[in-house]
Amino acid sequence: MTKQLDGRTVFITGSGGVLGSTYVRRMLEQGARVVSTDLPGARADALKAAHDGNENFRFYDMDVSDEAQVTEIFKRVMADGWNPNVVLNNAAITGEMLMGAGKSFPDFADTSVEDWNKTMHVNLTGAFMVARQMDRDIVGNYPCTLVNVASMYALNGAHHPIYDGMPFKNFSAYGVTKAGIHGLTVWLAGYWAKRQATVNTIAPGAVFNNHSEEFQKRVGELIMAGRMCEPDEIADAMLFLASPQAGYMTGQMVNVDGGFSAW
Ligand SMILES: NC(=O)c1ccc[n+]([C@@H]2O[C@H](COP(=O)([O-])OP(=O)(O)OC[C@H]3O[C@@H](n4cnc5c(N)ncnc54)[C@H](O)[C@@H]3O)[C@@H](O)[C@H]2O)c1
Repeated sequence: MTKQLDGRTVFITGSGGVLGSTYVRRMLEQGARVVSTDLPGARADALKAAHDGNENFRFYDMDVSDEAQVTEIFKRVMADGWNPNVVLNNAAITGEMLMGAGKSFPDFADTSVEDWNKTMHVNLTGAFMVARQMDRDIVGNYPCTLVNVASMYALNGAHHPIYDGMPFKNFSAYGVTKAGIHGLTVWLAGYWAKRQATVNTIAPGAVFNNHSEEFQKRVGELIMAGRMCEPDEIADAMLFLASPQAGYMTGQMVNVDGGFSAW
């Protein structure tokens, strides 16, 4: 039986996270070869263990904020004949990651330029460098597509009161980078159009990841569907964007947020 991603090779950044690891599993199930990349560490190790022995899975350590690594990993992948026709700019620094587990979260007034710049460098400059490498190595040589990952907090502001008393908050630089990444999408859509390359943005909603009952209730009230989503519900849309069925789409933002952005 034909599968949705038969014949596709997908290159994913930040693939060890909650959503990234779901995309990897689902894409392998749908017949893709998957080039997984992430920072070295426990998430990467868990992903590698989960797909150990799968001949359609490869993993490379790659920091998206390191220009030399991005160039080097693309070169290695291409040299091995795993030329990607789908690239997912999925890696991101979130407020929780930036501060490190256990540290209290700063107010906007106390946000450092260092933390702001680090978020810009990973979430936005990293995505730019991956897209640029795709342009250098792939675009124009064969049909391909890029999916940039934004957020429900890209074009909509965070609803700050739901974070009162929570151990995490929505971080200013995060939302700014997520708005910016859609700027990269629309810029590239026209730039690549004549070279058989498409680019779209997916904007995931609030993904459940062991959040407290109280947080689920607060955020659920802002969502038409009335609840947070499961990672597989975002993956359903991601698989479509990575598939040939999305071939006529370019420059679009796909909101998968239970109606959050439509009130
Ligand atoms: N989970 C959500 O509710 C949600 C909602 C909207 C958007 N998103 C977006 O979806 C994407 C995936 O999110 P997630 O929930 O899986 O987050 P996550 O924190 O579980 O995973 C993010 C991954 O990015 C990796 N990463 C961080 N810095 C990196 C770097 N410099 N180089 C390479 N990899 C790096 C991390 O190691 C991690 O594996 C992100 O872009 C995120 O902003 C998530």
